[in-house]
Amino acid sequence: MTASLDGILARALERPRNLSVADLTRLVSLEDPEERRIVRAAAYDLKCRIAGKLVSMRGIVEIGNVCAKDCLYCGIRRSNANLERYRLSIDDILRMAEVDAKAGYASIVLQGGEIESEANTVFIEECLRGMAHLDLGVTLSLGEQSEEVYRRWKAAGASRYLLRIETSSPELYARLHPADHSWTRRVECLAALRRCGYQVGTGVMSALPGQSMEDLARDIVFFGDRDVDMIGMGPYIPHPDTPLASEPQTLNNAGRLQLGLNMIAATRLYLHDVNIAATTALQALAPDGREQGILAGANVMMPNVTDAAYRRRYQLYAGKPCLDENAQQCRGCLERRLAAIGERVNYGARGDSLHFKART
Ligand code: 5AD
Ligand code: FES
Repeated sequence: MTASLDGILARALERPRNLSVADLTRLVSLEDPEERRIVRAAAYDLKCRIAGKLVSMRGIVEIGNVCAKDCLYCGIRRSNANLERYRLSIDDILRMAEVDAKAGYASIVLQGGEIESEANTVFIEECLRGMAHLDLGVTLSLGEQSEEVYRRWKAAGASRYLLRIETSSPELYARLHPADHSWTRRVECLAALRRCGYQVGTGVMSALPGQSMEDLARDIVFFGDRDVDMIGMGPYIPHPDTPLASEPQTLNNAGRLQLGLNMIAATRLYLHDVNIAATTALQALAPDGREQGILAGANVMMPNVTDAAYRRRYQLYAGKPCLDENAQQCRGCLERRLAAIGERVNYGARGDSLHFKART
């Protein structure tokens, strides 16, 4: 017998991690508009109790699109020859960090393709030391590295790290990546980040070819089992220059957006006090996709602060938004968009994960 929606919500609100895989599968696969409304309202209410009617910002600097990986879904995969590669200089990165600080976001994410080399490790250390005076909460999103590298970057000033597991199913992971990409190493990296004392973020894509609703429910259980502090996830969106784009797609863009919102609501209801991002992929599917993400329980947004000149070359999926806007335009846009849903930008606050504070 399936539990009633009311029963599931009552249990979810009692305490974190109080739902079964069956419950989560039910929440993730909701299609009835009224049921979706009820679940998202409960998740949003929980977000407001935990984080207030405030959204924390992390400006993203896309530091380079050179990548050693060849993920079958990703637009900057190594084998995509249809792309001009770039790497920002330290001066560029520090200039963009200043833009981020001036915008009042108080947090920054340095994201880029995966490069494992001593030269790159030193480069990132220099960036981190160069921006220390800005007093930003610094997140890195630079893929799999050795524990030693994670430790050095932490010592140089990074305090958070995002490494999406992409899917908690090793079998599905194997279908989405070449044979030399290892799910197990990714899990080990998450453990290493935790040992180094980072606020650890992970996440998955939804609407992947071959992914079931139960896979997604198990993804949410994975987040809880790893006790992560931050979640960044969004729907998979095909990129034309990738092998996965030729696979049959089960959902259209409207369906992808709804599934992404179901995932946010279910994750908030399961984990309670973690930071959850309303990611740019949602905005690629609908102009107000991120606001819908906030209203489904997310509390973080990641506006792009990369110079517009580089934005086109960092397209992980089709339809990336804000290609021509600069950081200042996005700042005004976000302020208006949040005001329209009764939320405010959490200016000047780093917005550390409350879950991290509670566990340390
Ligand atoms: N659609 C949606 N998200 C994608 N990512 C990579 N390619 C795609 C795509 N085609 C996500 C991955 C990665 C993050 C930086 O972007 O989850 O971890
Ligand atoms: Fe970039 Fe709206 S956030 S234009």
